Amino acid sequence: MSDLAKAGERLILALDTPELPEAREFIHSTQHLGIRYKVGPELFLAAGPEWLDKVIRQGARVFLDLKFHDIPNTVEQACRRAAGWGVWMCNVHALGGAEMIRRARAGLEEAADPRRGGRPLLLAVTLLTSHDEKALSEIGLAPGTEGHVVRLAKMAKSAGADGVVCSALEAAAVRKELGPDFTIVTPGIRPAGADVNDQVRISTPAGAIKAGASHLVVGRPITKAEKPAVACRVILTEMAGALG
Ligand code: C5P
Repeated sequence: MSDLAKAGERLILALDTPELPEAREFIHSTQHLGIRYKVGPELFLAAGPEWLDKVIRQGARVFLDLKFHDIPNTVEQACRRAAGWGVWMCNVHALGGAEMIRRARAGLEEAADPRRGGRPLLLAVTLLTSHDEKALSEIGLAPGTEGHVVRLAKMAKSAGADGVVCSALEAAAVRKELGPDFTIVTPGIRPAGADVNDQVRISTPAGAIKAGASHLVVGRPITKAEKPAVACRVILTEMAGALG
């Protein structure tokens, strides 16, 4: 497999749009690059599960990013539904606690359909990449982002999560503590010179790969580019260089 193809498997395009034709076009124009797609609340609430089902049946590998955070039973039932649609990956908030993560994993295992890709990977969101130290203090967490992220990642792994979502700035510490097989998904990716938007803890694509990220989530640097497929390829080339 070429480095570009390897990079493709590790790039997740965030389809953050409520417009179905636009989302479909993002998929059509980039699918040949072998990348994956993230469907978050904005698109999911506009498109509904039938649309999701359709794009998955057409071959898109989808990370359903609904960040469940509720009582364990509710999250388990939500994860059962996600597994039934054949999503590749889904997630919960680590702050929902170990029992909630255990039940999420149980729901995914019970409803996994081998004809639709088997059990989806379960990720736990540690801290949002839009959170800075001030935001941590507002929600009552002591300073020290990295310490919280590593602690939550350890708890999530022992409760059954396959990996975490964290910023690339914490990825190296998580990789060191959690080992080579743990999945680390990093949003907050900005190619050099790109608009930072509302992200705070950011990294370049190459920086995230070198820090040990398994997968990079990229949204606006691709979706707001004049030519999204070209922007996607530029990012993949940078990732491939870092992998090589
Ligand atoms: O447009 P941009 O590249 O900033 O998009 C990042 C995506 O990653 C968004 O869909 C956002 O919801 C998601 N995300 C994040 N930080 C997290 C978890 C998910 O930015 N901790």
